[in-house]
Amino acid sequence: MNARFAMGTEVIQGRNSIEEMGAVIKSLSSKPSVMICTDKGIVNAGIAKKITEQLDENDISYQVFDEVVPNPKIKTVEEGRDFLHKHDLNLLLAVGGGSSIDTAKAIAVIHAGGGEIERYEGRDKLDCDALPIIAVPTTYGTGSEANKATLVTNEKTKTKMVIVTPQIQPTHAFIDPEMMVKLPAAIGAATAVDALTHAIESYTSKIAQPITDGLNLHAISLITMNAPSAAMRQDDYESTTKVAIGSTMAGMAFGNTGLGLVHAISHAIGGITDVAHGVLNAILLPYVMEFNLPAVSDRYRQVGEVMGVDMNGISDVEGAKMTCEKVRELCQLLEIPTRLKDVGISSDIFEETAIIALKDGNYLRNRREATKKDIQNILLNAL
Ligand SMILES: [Fe+2]
Repeated sequence: MNARFAMGTEVIQGRNSIEEMGAVIKSLSSKPSVMICTDKGIVNAGIAKKITEQLDENDISYQVFDEVVPNPKIKTVEEGRDFLHKHDLNLLLAVGGGSSIDTAKAIAVIHAGGGEIERYEGRDKLDCDALPIIAVPTTYGTGSEANKATLVTNEKTKTKMVIVTPQIQPTHAFIDPEMMVKLPAAIGAATAVDALTHAIESYTSKIAQPITDGLNLHAISLITMNAPSAAMRQDDYESTTKVAIGSTMAGMAFGNTGLGLVHAISHAIGGITDVAHGVLNAILLPYVMEFNLPAVSDRYRQVGEVMGVDMNGISDVEGAKMTCEKVRELCQLLEIPTRLKDVGISSDIFEETAIIALKDGNYLRNRREATKKDIQNILLNAL
């Protein structure tokens, strides 16, 4: 099969890059009327205000929809669509973590195509244009700012629906450290490791290719070297920018390769509980890597090299084991919970989790096949 790499989002990066927001919006619409899609935390932290100031300065009209919740639900997406209709808005500006960007994308889908969001689950189910989307990530781990996928939780089936369609790829993403530098350390740490997970899973995907390899290896290096300082210090603009760019690079890559078993499991748990996605991935990553190790030892060794581990004279398998340890060290340094029980998860959801994870599209990209029992064992090890 031929390798495919789609490019779409224009990424504008740098401190105070959001000052270009007005000009970008005006380039997309002669009469813009903007829906800011965000959550109350972003509004209360004063981050949304930095965006609205830009729109005010440029005489651009807007309305703020701040009802986004973690692990976006169908109900929120429908409320957002109604809000958009009520105010007759024509451009979506997502400000926040992955939940805000994914919610904006899902609103764009049902606004354009009509009907219920379930209709669009899967690939390329939307057959008309959608409103333009601009993304301003305020955490590291999303990647959603640079790809054409959105995840919506279906509370009836307790699953995360994946919707992939090119019309919802953001036209522009602003990677501005001013929007992230004050992140609470725990959120900065968990989302940085989520971004690292994106890069490692994309690098070891069954359909990894040279373009995504280049993006992922540099992303792994940028995130590993800079995450501790970016997460722990609220004035380190340089490290924050590097982790943020690494996260976006991984997002560009996994939009083309898919992810792997870590995300298959964390999506399954995220449909059952409301534990933050980044924390789940950070807990699961080293355990899933140990499971995958026999199938991808050469690639894990390469991951360890760009994380700064000296692999001189060491076999692939030994090197891959050292990479797993390096990931653990990084998570400890970032003071991330290391056990599922630390975040209130118990073994009674493991069987259901394993069944759902095997149906997640990301599992299909994992290089080692897993059984239900294998996944239950990974979860028990991580408990
Ligand atoms: Fe993720």
